[in-house]
Amino acid sequence: MELTRLKGFQDLLGPQARTLSHVEERARLLMERYAVGEIRIPLLERIELYQRSTGETSDIVSKQMYTFTDRDEAGTTLALRPEGTPGVVRAYIEAGLDRSDPEQRFFYSGPMFRRERPQKGRYRQFYQFGVEVFGRADPACDAELLVMIDDLRRDLGLEFQFEINSLGCPKCRPAFRAALLDYGRLHFMELCRDCHERLERNPLRLLDCKIDVKLAEAAPKSLDYLCEECRKHFASVVGMLDAAGVRFVVNARIVRGLDYYMRTTFEVTSTNLGAQNAVVAGGRYDGLVEVLGGAPVPGIGFAIGMERLALAMEAARTPRETLPRVALIALGEAAARKATELARELRALPLQVELLSTERSLKAQLKRADKIGANYAVIIGPDELARAAVQLRDLGASSQREVSLAKLAAELGAARQ
Ligand code: HAM
Repeated sequence: MELTRLKGFQDLLGPQARTLSHVEERARLLMERYAVGEIRIPLLERIELYQRSTGETSDIVSKQMYTFTDRDEAGTTLALRPEGTPGVVRAYIEAGLDRSDPEQRFFYSGPMFRRERPQKGRYRQFYQFGVEVFGRADPACDAELLVMIDDLRRDLGLEFQFEINSLGCPKCRPAFRAALLDYGRLHFMELCRDCHERLERNPLRLLDCKIDVKLAEAAPKSLDYLCEECRKHFASVVGMLDAAGVRFVVNARIVRGLDYYMRTTFEVTSTNLGAQNAVVAGGRYDGLVEVLGGAPVPGIGFAIGMERLALAMEAARTPRETLPRVALIALGEAAARKATELARELRALPLQVELLSTERSLKAQLKRADKIGANYAVIIGPDELARAAVQLRDLGASSQREVSLAKLAAELGAARQ
């Protein structure tokens, strides 16, 4: 048996890992500006958590979870988390916040697991960066989350398409559901096999069928069935997004494949990603805290697919600010000692500094400096050491000159501008 990685799982090396970390860093900075605190939740939960929230009719719970039986006496069935929302809601209730201090905003970042058919942008282990807000039923909160996503998009220099919809509430949803059922039954012979099943389990899903696109487009729309309160809520969200300058379209087919949503739902896509183009998705889930045993507290959130965001960055070739790279070349023991000290000083500027192997010849070290794409080589040998100087080689311009140690930081600091 070959010990290779599993299908749908990825090793991320060097630049790929770097882009992923970069987008996470930017998202974390944004959270500080929006006063959203971090939450870290387990990777494993009881299977029932997802069955009761994400829903038994969802593809995630019915076909995609990694589950196993624990070795405890009860033989508890555990699931690797396929999404973050249920765990965050559980943690929120378990900490008693739903009763003591219901208004909370959390973000989380980490791997999720779904046994999907792998393709570009779709993996069996993938990273999500999510935000969940509790205790806010007002439309300003829905709009704020979408503005937050737009701020991240802008910060990363990307173009996204925002699509929003409203699924109504327990008061108006039944009429919409009934209309969809009627419609589905009327067109039963034209529906695909999956839709036959969807019709029985969750007729809303007829709307996001990728095969019966024409039928889905002509199907009843939730927006036509909204009660007065839901209509007002949606109109307010739309008005606030307009005022904040977020460009979006209303798409009646954004129904989402998870069971807990109500009212506002949204998907944010990137045009240059191919089939798996949804980078961010989310919506309101006002009944969920109660369903999982907490107080009736409203909630809303979203999750970013971090690999997809990184792919969008690569496709857009958004230049990322990187520090100039310096290869530090020391010849001999005494020079190596000085170089160790110097490396610290230069990194504090800050610069990217790699101290090359002191066991190699000057020629070999210069070759290495080229290979790692260094902008400068700083060479320090016994003669330079005696003169308290270094040779500064500009690898782009292929020029070299002697610079005193006292002036080196200022010279390289200027290179950063
Ligand atoms: P979701 O639509 O299942 O929603 O996933 C959110 C995002 O995660 C997707 O738009 C996509 O970018 C990424 N994603 C999902 N599956 C994969 C996969 N197999 N490979 C790569 N990326 C993937 C949720 O998970 C909800 N918990 C979002 C939410 C938070 N709603 C309210 N709060």
